[in-house]
Amino acid sequence: MTVRTTLEQAAKSVMGALTPGESQPDILDTLQAEHDEVQELLGKLVDSDSAREQKQLVEKIKRALVPHTKAEEKVVYDAVLALRGKEAKIDGNEGYIEHGLADATLKKLDKLTANTPEFKAAAKVLKELISHHVEEEERNIWAQVKENFSDKQREEMHREFLAAKKKVKVA
Ligand SMILES: [Fe+2]
Ligand SMILES: [Fe+2]
Repeated sequence: MTVRTTLEQAAKSVMGALTPGESQPDILDTLQAEHDEVQELLGKLVDSDSAREQKQLVEKIKRALVPHTKAEEKVVYDAVLALRGKEAKIDGNEGYIEHGLADATLKKLDKLTANTPEFKAAAKVLKELISHHVEEEERNIWAQVKENFSDKQREEMHREFLAAKKKVKVA
């Protein structure tokens, strides 16, 4: 392959990523990747027997989970809540309540002394809460997103989601 073809191909792929109308990331793909990441961290937290590692994992979970849920509420949940159907409104409200429960459990976990029975219990509750929440969200909320928003709208939601995440302050 010549240098010129390599450069032409590189330019083409950069333009492809920037040209409007070309395929952009879908909001649901990013949400999926973030769900997988948080669930993996929670699995490690529950399995860990080291106080030091547990504290590090709580910090990582906080930094991943808080921006995700806040941006998700703003960009996905509020769009679903604005839909006409009764089911959409119930699903959206349920998600908000579960985010609140997860947030409260995470705050509690953050205050507890690592590797104590109380800490281990709170870690388990958070893992179970998130697992249940993600399962329902991926089923119900995503069904609403797929049914009611076009590919273009979902690409726009993706951009808004990334921008909203940047604005979230993690205490
Ligand atoms: Fe989510
Ligand atoms: Fe969520």
